[in-house]
Amino acid sequence: MIRRNDELAKMRKAGRVVAEMLLEVSKHVKPGVTTAQLDRVARDVLGRRGARSNFLGYHGYPATICTSPNDVIVHGIPSDIVLVEGDIISVDCGAIVEGYHGDAARTFPVGEVSTEAKRLIEVTQEALRAGMSQLVPRKHLNETGRAIERVGRRAGYGVVREYVGHAIGTAMHEEPQVPNYWPGKPGIKLAPGMVFAIEPMFNAGDAGTVRLDDGWTVVTSDGSISAHFEDTIVVTDHGPEVFTIMD
Ligand code: MF3
Ligand code: CO
Repeated sequence: MIRRNDELAKMRKAGRVVAEMLLEVSKHVKPGVTTAQLDRVARDVLGRRGARSNFLGYHGYPATICTSPNDVIVHGIPSDIVLVEGDIISVDCGAIVEGYHGDAARTFPVGEVSTEAKRLIEVTQEALRAGMSQLVPRKHLNETGRAIERVGRRAGYGVVREYVGHAIGTAMHEEPQVPNYWPGKPGIKLAPGMVFAIEPMFNAGDAGTVRLDDGWTVVTSDGSISAHFEDTIVVTDHGPEVFTIMD
């Protein structure tokens, strides 16, 4: 699972496509838009860039992105639901370029949102940064989860445990998993060329999750709102390099 430079170059390309999907979708996140319209915007970016979807058809998943509003933690399916002012929405995007995968998520406010919602978004993004700062050679992988959990707990949030990050490369989900908490053991020792998707999910209330009957949508057990941030990141000798950004 140590990637060669030519493989990393392809993952960088895939990451840039994912970042462009998120940017284009973010421009359309406004009151009145449906989550199916957001899916269409992301699909058009894949088409323009000659990239393929890693989400569509994954274990039967029916869309190009996941759209997870308010109390939806993750894996919300785009539909005719209309976003309204004050909602928050997590958008999870992925792409395959030349056989290599990228995966990233952001949570966006819809118009003006409550201070509590803003704080949840900011803290979850801060946790992603804290987690990725641990992705350095010779540290152990599960330091990422330890750092993420610390940020979430300090803010009083429920740190989701049932859904985790993962290694990524020629498949979207590769071993090992990357928990967003300290799993009681240090995990593998990191080395340059290892690539991970780190993805904290924090609930404003407690950490419980419930999966709906559609088989995908995961909501908070107490109805509280939830935020999710994710990036695809490679371990290098000069620190973590995020692939899922635009230059
Ligand atoms: N990005 C999600 C993950 O984090 C994958 C979405 S599952 C899918 O790992 F079925 F929607 F593709
Ligand atoms: Co992921």
